[in-house]
Amino acid sequence: MGQSNHKTGVLFVCLGNICRSPQAEGIFRKLVADAGLQDRFDIDSAGTGGWHAGQAPDWRTQAASERHGIPLPHVARQFQVGDFDRFDYILAMDRSNLRDIQALARTEADFNKVRLLREHDPLADVASVPDPYYGDGDGFERVFQICFAACRGLLRSLTTPHRRTPSGSSDLA
Ligand code: 4NP
Repeated sequence: MGQSNHKTGVLFVCLGNICRSPQAEGIFRKLVADAGLQDRFDIDSAGTGGWHAGQAPDWRTQAASERHGIPLPHVARQFQVGDFDRFDYILAMDRSNLRDIQALARTEADFNKVRLLREHDPLADVASVPDPYYGDGDGFERVFQICFAACRGLLRSLTTPHRRTPSGSSDLA
């Protein structure tokens, strides 16, 4: 951010790229558009696995998202090593996704781009976005709420010049 032409690349990653990461991508796109910042971000999502590549998001994810007015036009794809070059921030949904992507890092810089999405939610009770695939319908609404809170925190951290120090001293820019 701050550079005139460089877009900040943000990639959301889960296992199949049909439930959690396309949901987070859609929410982050909406928050960025609402803030008028769409020209400053390159946003996408991917799966560590390729089984669902080419597919639309799971219908339960689409239903939950559309209830909140956020359609998800994403087409699933598998993460590729070149994504380390395109994206500045690679946000994993759970620790398994985190490890799988970190294992593909070619450099320390690649490795350090990979973090858990929920690190950006100060109120998160656990670190992971739970996989809703085999659960009931409520899991998809819960994933929406979890991703919404974390994406709001993510956008705040990417648009705030100076973060607050642990002591709470002034962070005013
Ligand atoms: P996602 O959910 O990683 O949030 O997209 C899943 C999608 C598919 C499968 C598992 C999780 N699967 O086993 O096919």
